[in-house]
Amino acid sequence: MLKYWCMISIKNLKKRYDDGNFAIRGISADFDKRLTTVIGRNGAGKTTMMRILSTQLLQSSGTVEIDGLDNVKDAKEIRKRIVSIPQEASPIGYLTPMEHLKMYLCARGMSLKDAGIEASKALRELELWHARDTPSDMLSGGMKRKIFVAMALAANADTIFLDEPTTGLDPLSRIEVWSAIKRLRGNIVLTTHYMEEAAELSEAVVMVESGKIIATGTIKSLLSKFKGMARAEITSSSAKAKYTIGNTKIEYIKLKEAESYVKNGYAIKPITLDDLFIMRGVNIES
Ligand SMILES: Nc1ncnc2c1ncn2[C@@H]1O[C@H](COP(=O)(O)OP(=O)(O)OP(=O)(O)O)[C@@H](O)[C@H]1O
Ligand SMILES: [Mg+2]
Repeated sequence: MLKYWCMISIKNLKKRYDDGNFAIRGISADFDKRLTTVIGRNGAGKTTMMRILSTQLLQSSGTVEIDGLDNVKDAKEIRKRIVSIPQEASPIGYLTPMEHLKMYLCARGMSLKDAGIEASKALRELELWHARDTPSDMLSGGMKRKIFVAMALAANADTIFLDEPTTGLDPLSRIEVWSAIKRLRGNIVLTTHYMEEAAELSEAVVMVESGKIIATGTIKSLLSKFKGMARAEITSSSAKAKYTIGNTKIEYIKLKEAESYVKNGYAIKPITLDDLFIMRGVNIES
């Protein structure tokens, strides 16, 4: 059970893979809220960072402290206190949710009896109880992901890392997984591509792109400059605009201006995560 607030402190973190490319190019941040969302597009460096924080990968330079423990020197101690659910996690088809949880808890050092008790509590709490003895092959995508959230819940870890827990799920299954995540105890670091997921689950958001942090704050503060605005897009070589992505020219306009932009052939789109990245000069085509 969480006894005190845990904080993750990252200083000038860099990771260069063997092929010579830097996946993390100097990240410094304190994750001091209960749930921090790391948001970024494909290849931004989210998984690399999560793997370093959860002691599965060594950084090239820089330091990481979790609750005062160093991710390299104190890796063994950190591992007792964390749960990490990787991006590619998928259950073993012929094992049931109950079997997954018991196996996981026993591997973490729990007795089989205690594992059964904790697994039952978690499966009940996350509304997986009715499916506890169903082979996971027969469960929906959302239910499969919930098995991993149940593992994290049952392990009673201080800190939980969830790498893209809802990618590929339909909107309803995503909501189901969100409600499971909300019942987790302890501190959580979660990665996602989805703005609405960050908004639903967390206060603190860290935006990463090309191995760097490009903005941090609350969803509200990050979106504040877009209040009452929309995105006007036109595909035209002659149009002048502040932002250009390929052939598309983009302007950020006030909603009351939309009509005149439509008359001039612009398409009006609601603001999305992409706009936060575009405004910061990220080429979202790449
Ligand atoms: N084992 C590896 N060896 C070499 N390069 C790697 C390796 N793993 C990742 N990379 C590269 O590091 C960069 C960051 O990858 P990473 O998987 O951390 O991104 P991500 O933000 O998790 O992306 P996604 O949203 O697609 O999961 C990418 O350019 C990727 O190609
Ligand atoms: Mg990833």
